[in-house]
Amino acid sequence: MPPQYRQAGPDNPSRKVITHVCGIVGYAGAHPALPFLLEGLERLEYRGYDSAGVALVESEGVYVEKAAGRLSSLVAVVDKSRPAHVGIGHTRWATHGPPTDDNAHPHTDCAGRVAAIHNGIIENYRELRAELEKSGHVFSSETDTEVIPHLLEAGEGHSLGERALYARGRLEGAYAFLAVSADEPDAVVAVRQASPLVLGLGDTGNYLASDITALLPYTREVMILDNGEMAVVTGRGVEIRDAAGLVVDRTASHIEWTTEEASRGGYPHFMLKEIMEQPDAWADCLRGRIGADGAVILEELGLRPGDLERVLRVQLIAAGTAYHACLMAQRWLEEWARVPVRVDVASEFRYQHPILSPGTVVVAVSQSGETADTLASVALAKDAGFPVWAVTNVVGSTLAREVHRVLYTRAGPEVSVCSTKAYTTQLLVLALLADALADVHRPEPRSSVIPHLQSLPALGAAWLRERRDLGASVARVAAAPSVFYIGRGLDYAVALEGQLKLKEISYIHAEAYPAGELKHGTLALIEPGVPVVAVATSAALMPKVRSNIMEVRARGGSVLAVVPESLADEMQDLADAIITIPATDERVAPVLAALPLQLLAYDVATALDRDVDKPRNLAKSVTVE
Ligand code: M6R
Repeated sequence: MPPQYRQAGPDNPSRKVITHVCGIVGYAGAHPALPFLLEGLERLEYRGYDSAGVALVESEGVYVEKAAGRLSSLVAVVDKSRPAHVGIGHTRWATHGPPTDDNAHPHTDCAGRVAAIHNGIIENYRELRAELEKSGHVFSSETDTEVIPHLLEAGEGHSLGERALYARGRLEGAYAFLAVSADEPDAVVAVRQASPLVLGLGDTGNYLASDITALLPYTREVMILDNGEMAVVTGRGVEIRDAAGLVVDRTASHIEWTTEEASRGGYPHFMLKEIMEQPDAWADCLRGRIGADGAVILEELGLRPGDLERVLRVQLIAAGTAYHACLMAQRWLEEWARVPVRVDVASEFRYQHPILSPGTVVVAVSQSGETADTLASVALAKDAGFPVWAVTNVVGSTLAREVHRVLYTRAGPEVSVCSTKAYTTQLLVLALLADALADVHRPEPRSSVIPHLQSLPALGAAWLRERRDLGASVARVAAAPSVFYIGRGLDYAVALEGQLKLKEISYIHAEAYPAGELKHGTLALIEPGVPVVAVATSAALMPKVRSNIMEVRARGGSVLAVVPESLADEMQDLADAIITIPATDERVAPVLAALPLQLLAYDVATALDRDVDKPRNLAKSVTVE
């Protein structure tokens, strides 16, 4: 395939601009709004962001200031003497789309009298923008967000609350937005549709934020907006209306969290928070990437007819956890699309004079997009003239800028060094890619994996809600000098990830093996009490895995089995402990199996009092060789 792909960047109209996991703050009250807005945004910095902005309501219009980069860039340019008592502020963390001044929020209407900020995805923004442009509205950014102030402007003559209800009826997707208008200088309106939004009630004013962290120094009395609700917030009070437009009577809750707890959403560690966020991250990752007919839409690849047919081989390159995601993807790609795949660790690929044959697409996978070895491998593949795509979580990362095309994982900022939600969203993106390739390389009828991918967020959420007690297994693993993980097929790939999680944060030696490989040497290490985590999600492979478990049991090994509910009976007589995951299609079950493996590592590390989010000797981005 010739290197016909355009650089990912602002000149590429096919990419979808999505702002997601952004920070939102708003204030209406007796004090000047700006100090709270800036402090609130600072408190949301931990979420990660790439630009920031504020809007203050003044009688002659709305004053807007915004800047790409750190909050300090905004602080340097904003006019701090503005006395407005009503305003909104935003930190944007773009998962797709360039972090520029123009794309930073707030966005305004044509007259500069309405400003809005938003978190989430407006799925029908293209249609809305086309419609609004046709009726004369002029847009100045590439974001989906900008349709909001223009929709509000279109409702001129009505109250801001009515206009917000109108906008809510027109917008599709998962989002939360705040808006202000110079025509109603005492109010902020807020709409929540699946993205978080909290109201804070103070003595001298009322607050809004995407995250309780921003509010805590000002108030601990909060109301959480429900999906579909709209609120009008003034210094005098708060009025909430439900999806039918009826006034909602809501009592405030008192929040006891410390500020530090709040920044982790109340969780003791970022890792646990990020584990629990996975179902939402999965939903965001899949959003807009599957058509009504079940076909995969990978718009960001800017594919032309025949491009996927011309992909004859795939070379996957990554490090650590991302490498494990690639090993899973290799099996999907080869099995579903029958396209040969090679997977290399980036630090090896760059020095092994790789042979890349014509028709190869190189796909580099990296959460941070800054891993030095991965970047060097990408440079090598590009120099050799091959198309290079990336799967990454960070917009504007070096990797995203270097490759020809990018698929973003949309997991939101991952703070814990130990990767969790980035891994599982990498799996989903790679599964979509495998399915898209399967569609063209194996057009014969097959059972679609897509509905099963789509059901993962609900299944994962249900499992995490109940969060199985791993009790005795945690104590057993925590006391062991060495732990082994086994699995076959896809389960071997997820076992590799499980063992990395454990050793990374608990400092316990762990190794993963294809289950059938134990007897070729490692079985010598199995003696009474040695924990063996067996992942067995495939009915077809179950008899084989059972035999391998028997080999372990015969040497006194203590087996913790991770199996779907539908296969739990197979383990009753064999395993010392069983963790079940929801029954689902075997092709995607290992994605769910990652959850208990992550939690096992987390529980063991906390039992051992390890520094879970910042394990010794490790960094979040490995930018050196
Ligand atoms: O940012 P990247 O995905 O390129 O990072 C690669 C590895 O350093 C990373 O996955 C590492 O293995 C994680 N800390 C594992 O949890």
